[in-house]
Amino acid sequence: MTEMEAFIADLPKVELHVHIEGTFEPELMLAIAARNGLAAPFPSVEEARAAYAFDDLQAFLDLYYAGMNVLLDARDFHDLTLAYLERAHADKVRHAEIFFDPQAHTGRGVALATVMEGICGALAEGERRFGITTRLIPNFLRDLDEDSAMACFEACLAHRQNICGFGLDSAERGHPPSKFERVFGRVRQEGFHVVAHAGEEGPAAYVSEALDLLGAERIDHGVRAMDDEAVVGRLVREGVVLTVCPLSNVRLRVVSDMAGHPIGRMLERGLKVTINSDDPPYFGGYIGDNFRAVEQALGLDRTALAAMTHNAIDGAFIDAGHRARLHAEVDAYTGG
Ligand code: ADE
Ligand code: ZN
Repeated sequence: MTEMEAFIADLPKVELHVHIEGTFEPELMLAIAARNGLAAPFPSVEEARAAYAFDDLQAFLDLYYAGMNVLLDARDFHDLTLAYLERAHADKVRHAEIFFDPQAHTGRGVALATVMEGICGALAEGERRFGITTRLIPNFLRDLDEDSAMACFEACLAHRQNICGFGLDSAERGHPPSKFERVFGRVRQEGFHVVAHAGEEGPAAYVSEALDLLGAERIDHGVRAMDDEAVVGRLVREGVVLTVCPLSNVRLRVVSDMAGHPIGRMLERGLKVTINSDDPPYFGGYIGDNFRAVEQALGLDRTALAAMTHNAIDGAFIDAGHRARLHAEVDAYTGG
């Protein structure tokens, strides 16, 4: 291991952009399918991994939704979530804000209460066992209509003590943030935080819409903002945190290769960039792998890598004391 690899391995990390259904390792998917008496979407782990070659976001989403169909019971959601936390712990993740897609489960007959029981039980266990603190953020599926998002939101209110905010994900092109103005108005009225995927495959204008029309406090991805200098200037001025997912961007062909990833330029331009995994087994790596890939391709130094963890701490939905403790942990590690 090089000195830089060792630095990255032990750097305390905060992950703000990970979809729990997107952390489904093929081994666990096959085991859960078997215990539920269901046909797995792939006959073997090797064939699953071989199928994870995508031309665009939709090609990934088709497999992502097919994979989660084997999740039926609270125990399934528990095992999925605990497996992520165990892996995140190995990467020195200290705090994670986790997305899930309620409509992708209720739409196939799995009750929201079942999903919440499984995920929340695992989050509590993960904090006890690994000391990882978490927040949970349901995302509305933007390729469904706003009435469906509204029904999802109202159902989530029964679980509000376990939810810190709401987001927007799934197929971006042709589904602008403006489609969800009303439901995010309700989200804000009820006092929740707001995030939104924007500027992943969609244009920079969707980033502006997410800020102006939805009240987004963080932008998930946001890399396409770099196409529009006015949008970049605004994000810098307002200090908006961007949850960038480098391996995801390469695998979904948002960028041509890691050497061409704009993350270094984004940092230099003063954007509050963070590094995240999105859907790790589908895209070839967890948060540590994303840090390593960026460092190797772009040669970012320790200061830049630590700055991205500080940015994530600044963008986390936690109280001032918790934020100060996390910053101090990173400073103690870097000697900063
Ligand atoms: N759902 C899971 N991963 C996603 C991504 N990268 N973009 C949009 N929706 C998603
Ligand atoms: Zn995502």
